[in-house]
Amino acid sequence: MTERTQVGIVGAGPAGLILSHLLHLEGIESVVLEVHTRKYIEERVRAGVLEQGTVELLTGMGVGDRLKREGLVHHGVEFRFRGQGHRIDFQDLVGRSITIYAQQEVVKDLVAARLATGGKIMFEAADVSVHDIDSKNPKIRYRGGEISCDFIAGCDGFHGVCRASIEKSLTIYERIYPFAWLGILAQAPPSSGELIYANHELGFALLSMRSPEISRLYIQCAPDEDIAHWPDARIWEQLHLRFATHDGQWKLTEGPVIQKNIAEMRSFVADPMQYGRLFLAGDAAHIVPPTGAKGLNLAATDARVLARALADFYTSGSTDVMDRYSEICLRRCWKVQHFSWWMTSMLHRIPGESVFDRQRQLAELDYVTGSRAASTALAEHYTGLPFTI
Ligand code: APR
Ligand code: PHB
Repeated sequence: MTERTQVGIVGAGPAGLILSHLLHLEGIESVVLEVHTRKYIEERVRAGVLEQGTVELLTGMGVGDRLKREGLVHHGVEFRFRGQGHRIDFQDLVGRSITIYAQQEVVKDLVAARLATGGKIMFEAADVSVHDIDSKNPKIRYRGGEISCDFIAGCDGFHGVCRASIEKSLTIYERIYPFAWLGILAQAPPSSGELIYANHELGFALLSMRSPEISRLYIQCAPDEDIAHWPDARIWEQLHLRFATHDGQWKLTEGPVIQKNIAEMRSFVADPMQYGRLFLAGDAAHIVPPTGAKGLNLAATDARVLARALADFYTSGSTDVMDRYSEICLRRCWKVQHFSWWMTSMLHRIPGESVFDRQRQLAELDYVTGSRAASTALAEHYTGLPFTI
């Protein structure tokens, strides 16, 4: 079966779905091909922090109602080290905030919005491949059919097929970190109103949340760690130790663990993010380590730039933004890469670090939390850099 659309989109993650809906709002047709089922993508546990700009983007697209109702707005974040907490007040420093709302909830809202407005998402699309991308009529093939389009958006995540199909024309920049995160979801009310990033002798720990009833907690572990060696009791013991304050006042609330996973830490950039009529967006083009919670937000800004490039092309024939797509996205991406690397380096115990490095790390935390100038830079990054084209 051969079908025709204007923009063929591979992948129904945040990048692909935001792009598809933004295009719809501009009167541009698209088809999204997703290898997994709807249930799978709507239940997969991923990130959970939205920059203010991402919230504004989703709201402006008409998919912000549940986010406004259920999202938890945070005006600051805590850094805990040497047994003491230090708050960074986003509202005071930059007048902005972040919202806690799980990635799978964003995906649910976007899928519902696409289907309600006649959007086409093909779930369980097998053997997806892209063809003729250096022609004006690129094609996406899948088991049982072909889609002929004007442009293809590769929004198929880090392990997708789109980047792999243009690998030879890309320069890859990569850094793999010598530690990982063991994450749990627990049925326990969050022990703090805001996120806590802890730098401890035993390793990094992060307290986050999904709702007033569900905590999301992480601890630094070895990259080759076997999850079987981490029964719940051992995880809670480490969490208690790493978040403990000197005054002994702070208490961590435990609860049944409902999900557990280990995530590797990587920085990755593919340059350029375009070849012919194939445009990469989101994790297909870049990965950041999760310290700083930037992955989903960066995927959203790529989609926003690409939607603008395509809208300009279809409405006026202008290729100005399209020609600069990769340059625009990578400029932001590298700043976010730097921020994510910096947060990661400042907060984790680095295997083999010298006593000098350890003192330098603590001094950096002391400076960042104590200096208004340094806190402001952190707050600006954390709540999201301004969107520019
Ligand atoms: N064919 C079709 N779909 C595919 C294929 C393929 N060959 N390979 C992957 N996909 C789908 C995946 O199943 C997934 O639903 O592409 C989608 C990619 O979505 P994400 O991985 O969520 O990537 P992206 O939309 O760029 O969002 C980035 O995801 O990694 C997280 O937390 C990170 O928040 C960040 C966000
Ligand atoms: C999360 O809630 O999953 C989360 C929060 C902050 C991070 C990373 C992940 O830096």
